[in-house]
Amino acid sequence: MQFEPGAADQHIADLARAAARDHLTPRAARTDAGIFPRENIAALGQLGLLGIKIDPTFGGLDGSNLAYVLAIRELAGACASTTVTVAVTNMVADMIARFGTDEQKQRHLAKLVSGEYLAGSFALSEPSAGSDAASLQTRAERRGDDWVLNGNKLWITSGDVAGVTLVMAKTDANKGSRGITAFLTEPGMPGFSVGRHEDKLGLLGSSTVSLAFEDVVVPDSARLGALGQGFEVAMTALDGGRCGIGAQAIGMGYTALRETSRILTARAARDKALGTEQNALFRLADMALRLDAAWLLVQRAAWLRDQGKKMTKEAAMAKVAATEAANFACQTAMQLAGPDAFDAGSTIARVWRDVRVSRIYEGTSEIQRLVIARSLAAGL
Ligand code: CAA
Repeated sequence: MQFEPGAADQHIADLARAAARDHLTPRAARTDAGIFPRENIAALGQLGLLGIKIDPTFGGLDGSNLAYVLAIRELAGACASTTVTVAVTNMVADMIARFGTDEQKQRHLAKLVSGEYLAGSFALSEPSAGSDAASLQTRAERRGDDWVLNGNKLWITSGDVAGVTLVMAKTDANKGSRGITAFLTEPGMPGFSVGRHEDKLGLLGSSTVSLAFEDVVVPDSARLGALGQGFEVAMTALDGGRCGIGAQAIGMGYTALRETSRILTARAARDKALGTEQNALFRLADMALRLDAAWLLVQRAAWLRDQGKKMTKEAAMAKVAATEAANFACQTAMQLAGPDAFDAGSTIARVWRDVRVSRIYEGTSEIQRLVIARSLAAGL
């Protein structure tokens, strides 16, 4: 196993670090005030960071999964709202690159990667199908050369701004997860509408909406992958996506750690007993310990994906470990930094709010544990 980033991986991580410093950090407070980070998306699009693993023909960076998690960690340390938007866009681009026809790639990839589309969105969850994704109710019925989509999607990141949405729908109600097919829909299709904007605790600069499909006619040429392959498309996306969410959480966790160290050092200058007491030092050490251990799992999962190996269990382990370590770090930061962190506009307050959902979206910690346990039972 070799996690040491190669020169190309490091170049992508460096690009992300510079973009975080120059674009995301200066706008982090404004983004956290609920303003969708269009300028950040434009800047990241110019750098290729919306298509980290995508072929340069389409403006991407042809990077590895390791480069992807390194870049996401850098971006998330500065602004998690921008990063979740970027992560879902990368995920949709990856699925089009992996399962798409030449026509679909030509139609969408350059626009997704450049930022012309602003974002891609991934529409799997529904009002009555969150964790049990295969029980989704949205249906697609064949009509001549087309499909007609009906149903509702919920908690869709960037669903209102995305230039393309990857929608999972039932094409055969009798076949369970094998009766699900993926489609690429576009805004402006008659019958497609954006509903409620979620009023969230964190990630306030990212947009999370419900979507409705009422007799939306989608050509068969917009079907992504084979008939009945939609659940596999979604799960393949999530194997990579969960590494990204793990990296996003770790980025936030390290920001909490650095910020707490800074605050305690300043406090120690004023009152030696408070800033250097063993309680504070041990807890900082625990934050670093858990974050570093989890980060190794994230890198392992990304590395396995780069080797073309099955890594569903490892992605689940990476996500649960990273998001729980990062939540621990942000929670501990809040306690140690006290009044400096409880100020609503502080960096620690922002990451404390932003990190919480990482244990919920792209599969809850409970679902990750189910995936791990099932893999163990299957001898994987
Ligand atoms: N890759 C490829 N195929 C996979 C797979 C994977 N990782 N996982 C499962 N499959 C295949 C299986 O091999 C099986 O195929 P066969 O029928 O051919 O044998 C089929 O899919 C069904 O698999 P399961 O029996 O394991 O499916 P299940 O119904 O028991 O559910 C689950 C599995 C893991 C619980 C799944 O429903 C799940 O991951 N739930 C969580 C959903 C989720 O993560 N939602 C996130 C929403 S997106 C989001 O949050 C993004 C955002 O906006 C930030």
